[in-house]
Amino acid sequence: MTQKISLTRYLVEQQRSAGHIPAQLRLLIEVVARACKGISQAVSKGALGGENSVMGSAGSENVQGEVQKKLDIIANEVLIEANEWGGHLAAMASEEMDDIYVVPNRYPQGEYLLLFDPLDGSSNIDINGGIGTIFSVLKKPEGSTGVEQQDFLQPGKQQVAAGYCIYGPQTTLVLTVGDGVAMFTLDREQGSFVLITENVQIPEDTQEFAINMSNMRHWDEPIKRYIDECLQGKAGPRGKDFNMRWVAAMVADVHRILTRGGVFLYPWDKREPEKPGKLRLLYEANPMSWLVEQAGGAATNTQQRILDIQPDKLHQRVSVVLGSKNEVERITSYHAGL
Ligand code: F6P
Ligand code: MN
Repeated sequence: MTQKISLTRYLVEQQRSAGHIPAQLRLLIEVVARACKGISQAVSKGALGGENSVMGSAGSENVQGEVQKKLDIIANEVLIEANEWGGHLAAMASEEMDDIYVVPNRYPQGEYLLLFDPLDGSSNIDINGGIGTIFSVLKKPEGSTGVEQQDFLQPGKQQVAAGYCIYGPQTTLVLTVGDGVAMFTLDREQGSFVLITENVQIPEDTQEFAINMSNMRHWDEPIKRYIDECLQGKAGPRGKDFNMRWVAAMVADVHRILTRGGVFLYPWDKREPEKPGKLRLLYEANPMSWLVEQAGGAATNTQQRILDIQPDKLHQRVSVVLGSKNEVERITSYHAGL
């Protein structure tokens, strides 16, 4: 029988082999994974979670007149409580908090910064669809005393770890520390994440795209052109038929792409022209882009590599095209007028 490799063992080996990750970063990833286990547990209970039920909207009241918590708020709290005391972090930032959360003085301060989207794909919660937690880890800039929002404004290429945990039929943690992409599925009996795939590779070519087609009338010309050519199928310029998928949770769409290839697009559109896109750069696009690149794919905002973008705001939005390399390059070339 082949021996199962736990996330803990994988991380210890990453720490040993060529010193890929320092001990503090290993601890950080283990704590994030533990928090994800807790979120997975809450998600799986659904409406059976009693007063902590994950269903319904924040601010609503249950029959006893108590405020019900919504899953994205609960997930945010779980991640903060799990991470604040370990001594590995200086501060955290989340989609659910306007400002950064500095580790309180009563705990030791570490050198890492953790960013997360605690619950991605929230519109899927009430329909029992795929959702997840996305995270990104940066190092606090050297020489800075204290910690402030500015410290988080680093390009994605400076991430030291990134990943997500998808809560679907299985709970699977997908991780990179810059040495390829590994996937771990939660073994509920053992209570630990077990390695299921290492060295994930996205095929360079694909016949599957993911985009919210209902926005078509708002798209820019190069996006219209690309999708229109896909839709023409065999008879069109691409000479092949395409399939379409849209889960409406980035974690689930990216998970499919890491598993079997494809291209994901959430581009800028004319609905809110002053916004660069819908998705957030620091805790959605950056970690996903690094995972995709580590798996041999590509990620762009249609003008430049996402990981090269210098952020100027914590909750900055960005246009996203990522996945199979040849498709991403094609979409980029359409934007360059080729
Ligand atoms: O986090 C934003 C998000 O929920 C992504 O997970 C998902 O890809 C997207 O929004 C779905 O957007 P829409 O509802 O516009 O299709
Ligand atoms: Mn999200």
